[in-house]
Amino acid sequence: MKKWLMMMLAAVLMVGILAGCGARSQQSTSKEGGEAGGGASDEKIIIKFSHVVAENTPKGQAAEMFKQLAEEYTNGKVEVQVFPNSQLYKDEDVLAAVQQNNVQLAAPSTSVVTKLYPQWTLFDLPFIFKDEAGVQAAMESPEIGGKLFTMLEDQKLLGLAMWDNGFKQTHSNKKILAPTDFKGQKLRVMSSKVLEAQFKSVGANPTPMAFGEVYSALEQGVIDGGENTISNIYSQKMHEVQKYITMSNHGYLGYAVITNSDFWNGLPEDVRTQLQKALDETTTWVRENSKRVNDEQLAEIKATGKTEIIELSEEERQAWVDAMSSIYSEFEGEIGKDLIDAAKALW
Ligand code: LMR
Repeated sequence: MKKWLMMMLAAVLMVGILAGCGARSQQSTSKEGGEAGGGASDEKIIIKFSHVVAENTPKGQAAEMFKQLAEEYTNGKVEVQVFPNSQLYKDEDVLAAVQQNNVQLAAPSTSVVTKLYPQWTLFDLPFIFKDEAGVQAAMESPEIGGKLFTMLEDQKLLGLAMWDNGFKQTHSNKKILAPTDFKGQKLRVMSSKVLEAQFKSVGANPTPMAFGEVYSALEQGVIDGGENTISNIYSQKMHEVQKYITMSNHGYLGYAVITNSDFWNGLPEDVRTQLQKALDETTTWVRENSKRVNDEQLAEIKATGKTEIIELSEEERQAWVDAMSSIYSEFEGEIGKDLIDAAKALW
């Protein structure tokens, strides 16, 4: 969708929601970080929501939608302050910030959660999911999503939802078609052992780096390329400094929406219920729209005619699967064979 059309839709959504908020009561006092422990009911509850991507991405749009719905459903008792583009925290710091209640919501990629819980690297394994439906089935399954979410609770974290972005593509200034083409290429990855192993398996040189630093590293030639969803590539203008994007769909990028468990459990019950309703509706929207956002932005990239988009044939894709899947056994201990088998069983 063209940028202006997306902006118009966002404006229509905003006007509709504001109209629905006409009767919102005005509160005179506010309290950051909510009312953990059950504070006075006339205090406004502030929820700071930190994330690292731009507003015109699936996560950026979802954060805005959640803000609008949450404020509407709680009649203004809650104010959600969204901080996109790593304005508050980089991914490497955001979970600690949630644990300390410096922000009340974050939606880091599942790769970020692996720092605390290596089992979450399941989501980073290349070619582990067949398609979007497979990822969603995994997120909903008690053996996978249920298990991964429950383990967060021993570190003051509470997983509230999973949001999709989409499958990652491979971008570079040097053409990548066959696994042998990776040799010696310096490719940015998120901080995840599985992602490093994935690129090492094909002879590349994986370079962990914060999301906000990738564009300038590409521009300056510090790295050759990396992997990301089209919406992350497009919104950061990475394609403007990359000659090739290979549509490899090799790995999945999704988000765990995480809060501080003390904060959440300390909210008045009615507020919590309305916030969960706002989250559930946002999650449904993300599911139905993340692929569309990525597809439309791919069309925008194609329309520039500057970046070559490489499609893989079935045989070419199979060569990637064969090369990269060799890392599964290396991570059986860390992730758990039961989790890997449960994901494979969804095919
Ligand atoms: C990345 O670092 O590439 C992604 O995790 C950014 C994001 O949150 O989508």
